[in-house]
Amino acid sequence: MSDAALPMPASPETDILSALGARSIVLVGMMGVGKSTIGRRMAARLKLPFVDADTEIEAAAGMTIPEIFERHGEPHFRDGEARVIARLLEGGPVVLATGGGAFMREETRNRIAAKAVSIWLKADPDIIMRRVRRRADRPLLQTADPEATVTRLLTEREPVYSRADLTIASREVPHDKIVEECIETLHAHLCAEAASQPPADVASAVR
Ligand code: S3P
Repeated sequence: MSDAALPMPASPETDILSALGARSIVLVGMMGVGKSTIGRRMAARLKLPFVDADTEIEAAAGMTIPEIFERHGEPHFRDGEARVIARLLEGGPVVLATGGGAFMREETRNRIAAKAVSIWLKADPDIIMRRVRRRADRPLLQTADPEATVTRLLTEREPVYSRADLTIASREVPHDKIVEECIETLHAHLCAEAASQPPADVASAVR
């Protein structure tokens, strides 16, 4: 048989793309867990566009996130964030990194559940603290005791983040190892999802 006659080799990446269809992959979790870094690398592996919700919000508002918080307040930022994520989910499939507070809004969680597979990147508080200290542009952490703020936010948010479809531990190992775990876990999830659905011809026959 000539090479041209060989079918395209199946790989976890091609399986993931065909199982996703128009759905996106959405990364959720606390500030500093690596959603953008991991998301960008996952997108490259899957040959999908990468979009960062925070960057899109800044572009839509023509202002930085600290400026939006300062001039208009957090509720205004959250409304814009929900609108931008809704728009981005209509343009799937993409790999979408969300800001740490986005998944707290029920409407956004429901949209993500309908239009995407979600992955919670979960990190220990000390790793989060070490990483967020490197950047001073997070308005929620401009407090007298940022460590206490991170602890409080984690207590409020972790039960909600845990509703994501999948959870991956983000830790101090090379990024590509975390990306590999995301790909493997996503692949297993989508295969299980496909196996639990009746084949298309059976589904249409019973309609
Ligand atoms: C926020 C996280 C930030 C950004 C904003 C609010 C939050 O995004 O959306 O500062 O509420 O946790 P990152 O998680 O990308 O830092």
